[in-house]
Amino acid sequence: SAAPQVRIYEVGPRDGLQNESKFVPTDVKIELINKIAAAGIKNIESASFVSPKWVKQMSDGVEVMKNLPRAPGVNYPVLIPNLKGYDTAKQCNIEEVAIFPAGSEGFSQKNLNCSVEEGLRRFKLVADQAIKDGLRVRGYVSCVVGCPYDGPIHPKGIAKITEQLLEMGCYEISLGDTIGVGTAGSVRRLMREVLAVAKPEQLALHFHDTYGQALSNLLAGLEFGIKTVDSSISGLGGCPYARGASGNLATEDLVYFLYGLGANTDVDLVKLIEAGRYISNYLGKPTDSKVNRAIGFY
Ligand code: HMG
Ligand code: MG
Repeated sequence: SAAPQVRIYEVGPRDGLQNESKFVPTDVKIELINKIAAAGIKNIESASFVSPKWVKQMSDGVEVMKNLPRAPGVNYPVLIPNLKGYDTAKQCNIEEVAIFPAGSEGFSQKNLNCSVEEGLRRFKLVADQAIKDGLRVRGYVSCVVGCPYDGPIHPKGIAKITEQLLEMGCYEISLGDTIGVGTAGSVRRLMREVLAVAKPEQLALHFHDTYGQALSNLLAGLEFGIKTVDSSISGLGGCPYARGASGNLATEDLVYFLYGLGANTDVDLVKLIEAGRYISNYLGKPTDSKVNRAIGFY
């Protein structure tokens, strides 16, 4: 079949850094985002406006978004939990927000301090306001395969939440395997259910690589015609409310994988690797990108 066209949605500055316990200064966050943009990535989730009592690392969202230079043609969405976060983000020249109901009750309680239903109700308030203000809204569903508290998750419930997010006006729904327990088999079962309510171009795939399955899961998803993939520079990340979950699929590994499929990504892998090394060096830990580790540019 023809080489896929894939839209890369970078989540490292948000999903990646939110998991780092030592505070990363605002200028380092901005420099990381700039380096990712310079490598040719066109969608970079750059901050979240969640409660600083819950995620201290993201408490400088205003400073990040107010001081971040916008590169032409680059989209800088932010993650929003409620209207309070939305009102703050609105002051920072944003064009896209992401809302994030959970796919399981247990994770909803730990991550949002409310039920799935109550979360959906709050996120609808955000989506309604954002759409009224002319912004784009992206939806995440977390724990689409398994939950650290509730165990395996049935894809029917995930399809239902996906449908509700589309009704709220989300232009795209990112299916998040928050804890990275998915396999090609469970991803196929999920795709069959979700594609009964959504078109493939309305979906994105968001894999964490805890069990090393992210790339095979991705291949399974791409076979259903999915066009957008979330990834994180240097494989940073995890989730503060999902202990043991490892980082996202690394953006460097994704780009190498897409090169292999003959997909045109317009991404400069050398610059991407430099961006990954910049943040790994800053954090003082080895990269979680296999490609970054393997390639000896220096
Ligand atoms: P709560 O404690 O129930 O909220 O938290 P509350 O309304 O009772 O407020 C508590 C305090 O927080 C109050 O302050 C509020 O003003 C303040 P106080 O009166 O005590 O001084 N507050 C805020 N401050 C700033 N910005 C806000 C905000 N909201 C309340 N937006 C809440 C509920 C949703 C706020 C909390 O649970 C929260 O912030 N959760 C977010 C946790 C988070 O960021 N998790 C990681 C992101 S999700 C993820 O990574 C998964 C994903 O990548 C997909 C995947 O991997 O599958 C998306
Ligand atoms: Mg995530």
